[in-house]
Amino acid sequence: MPILSELLQPLPRARLPDGDSALSVAAIHYDSRQVTPGSLFVAIAGFKVDGASFVPDAVSRGAVAVVAETEVPLPDGVALVTVPDAREALAWLSAAFYGHPSRNLRVIGITGTDGKTTTSYLAGSVLQAGGLKYGRLGTVDVEVAGRTEVNLSRQTTPEAPEIQALLREMVDAGCTHAVIESTSHGLALHRLTGIEYDVAVLTNITTDHLDFHGTQEEYVAAKRRLFELLDAPTTKPAQRYAVLNADDPISPVFVRHFGAPAVTYGLREPADLRAEAVRLSADGSQFRLEATKAPSGKPLSPGRGVEVREGVEVHSHLPAEFNVYNCLAAAGVGLAEGIDLEPIARGLGSLKGVPGRMERIDEGQPFTVVVDYAHTGDSVAKALRVLRPLTEGRLIIVFGCAGERDRSRRTGVGGAAAELADYVVLTSEDPRTEDPDAIIEEIAGVLRAKGRVEGVDFERHEDRRQAIIAAFRKARAGDTVLLAGKGHEQSMIYGAEKRPWDDRQVAREELARITAKPR
Ligand SMILES: Nc1ncnc2c1ncn2[C@@H]1O[C@H](COP(=O)(O)OP(=O)(O)OP(=O)(O)O)[C@@H](O)[C@H]1O
Ligand SMILES: [Mg+2]
Repeated sequence: MPILSELLQPLPRARLPDGDSALSVAAIHYDSRQVTPGSLFVAIAGFKVDGASFVPDAVSRGAVAVVAETEVPLPDGVALVTVPDAREALAWLSAAFYGHPSRNLRVIGITGTDGKTTTSYLAGSVLQAGGLKYGRLGTVDVEVAGRTEVNLSRQTTPEAPEIQALLREMVDAGCTHAVIESTSHGLALHRLTGIEYDVAVLTNITTDHLDFHGTQEEYVAAKRRLFELLDAPTTKPAQRYAVLNADDPISPVFVRHFGAPAVTYGLREPADLRAEAVRLSADGSQFRLEATKAPSGKPLSPGRGVEVREGVEVHSHLPAEFNVYNCLAAAGVGLAEGIDLEPIARGLGSLKGVPGRMERIDEGQPFTVVVDYAHTGDSVAKALRVLRPLTEGRLIIVFGCAGERDRSRRTGVGGAAAELADYVVLTSEDPRTEDPDAIIEEIAGVLRAKGRVEGVDFERHEDRRQAIIAAFRKARAGDTVLLAGKGHEQSMIYGAEKRPWDDRQVAREELARITAKPR
């Protein structure tokens, strides 16, 4: 079992009273209900409650040491470690507890507003096609060497002990690479602190999550942190890379914040990796992937040496131009890892889809049903624009907006639906402690302001199943119904309660009812 004083080594500012340094630690917990005898309890301040108030509970369950930001009274025999930042301490202690697994992996972090999950899947596919064994963790699920577990936590980035345990599992399973969806929340809350990153990928940055980060500047700063980590001390000798979207105006700003070489990708601006002759269709896209190679044949020495361009044809199952960007980002990861263009193209082409992302539900009904996770104005607009040319009839959208999340989404998503859909069914999406009808009324106000009329252009059903039924009743042959916002999610949050929910399953059930009866 690890010794407390050894675990504290990465935390020079931690203070441990004399005499307790030989204490061994059986487990690390931040939730007092999980504490088992011999554990180290880290009292982290939550958004609602101060973690220190759970110390007595942790001690009664057998905690032998407590890490806190303030002096807390403890019985004899329980060690107190005080630290300036308990979250940061939790991350470093977890990394040390699991033997710093990220030092034995090439760690690829993917950040950005949209496309992180999709790009993580694509990157995994590319690594696999390159003959590399990888683990991946993100919003939808966790994959360790080919075994997948659904992520039920509703948190894209789990807390540091879970992440470090997963990285350890990856190392033990023989993985050489880890792909981590690295959200700005996760970065800002030190969930990813203590991880040695090798490749940092940016998809794009638009305005979202301002409920948490306050301002656009802070949001950008939180995303940038992943790139700053490329300059952090490392025990690994191999070259680190940034993979940046050349078409996103934020990229030049990012480049100034780290020293690692950047692999750039894009469709419009000059870039190391480009998609040429892009052909989009209902069931995917085709393009020529062109990459700059240095004379050595090794990819990447951006801006240096004689440039040779090589190309390969890519057939992706993922529809929409934004997925071409995601493919390019994943190809950037492949180049950074020294994978040739042929296997990169094969990897990109082998991904059939990402659960809950533009996922078609087909029970033999005469119209198209698509479940998509888009829940921001930007991504809903993109989803509707993708579906429009693929739809002969009308485009019907079912959506709501989450409670206790960025309120500007209600204007954004409402505005996108008002402008780009033919018919709208308003419903709930995780109201949390907010009044679901009040959220719906707020979105209805956005629709009315855009000239849409209730009863003609839109209707509302607080109950999401009823909303889905209403949309299916409305749909005729050739129409498309987009169920937006929930994607792969397995629950709906009312108050503090998580009720089981799956858009795809409900859609299948209701479609089966329709197709069973003559319409
Ligand atoms: N590169 C992109 N640019 C813009 N929109 C995208 C991009 N990729 C995906 N999207 C849209 O965003 C939705 C979410 O995609 P994905 O799950 O890959 O993103 P994410 O960044 O992981 O999202 P989250 O922050 O919710 O975890 C997709 O269903 C699609 O509508
Ligand atoms: Mg995600």
